Amino acid sequence: GAPVEVNVTQIEPGQRISVAWRGRPVWVVRRTPEMLELLPEIHGRLRDPDSEVAAQQPEYAQNTYRSIKPEILVLIGLCTHLGCSPAFRPEIGAAELGSDWPGGWFCGCHGSRFDMAGRVYRNMPAALNLEVPPHRYLSDDVILVG
Ligand code: FES
Repeated sequence: GAPVEVNVTQIEPGQRISVAWRGRPVWVVRRTPEMLELLPEIHGRLRDPDSEVAAQQPEYAQNTYRSIKPEILVLIGLCTHLGCSPAFRPEIGAAELGSDWPGGWFCGCHGSRFDMAGRVYRNMPAALNLEVPPHRYLSDDVILVG
């Protein structure tokens, strides 16, 4: 499949858009400063907080934010358990996910939870963080996925 261009200026803070790449959904999220601040605080609740499983992201996304620019996150939108597409649940303290929910994704198929960097929680059906696809900036505003 051909690489896909995404203009990130269309994404409001806290919002996520979805594009298709190689027949798979790719999510691009603009995280708010509040979302970014929570990421280092929940390491103890995550299975691979430091993104040590190399296959789940390119080297340039093996960092605290799992991204090139902290605010812009790019993920393959498929659960690493059995491939359902998890629901975007960015609301901090979402009622049914708990007052300590820091925002992220919830997979309705078997209940896996992922944080706002696509990192999986401990003791979930999914064992791996969501995958960050290869991507790069063509300019300040445009990324190329693939
Ligand atoms: Fe997501 Fe099973 S496919 S938890």
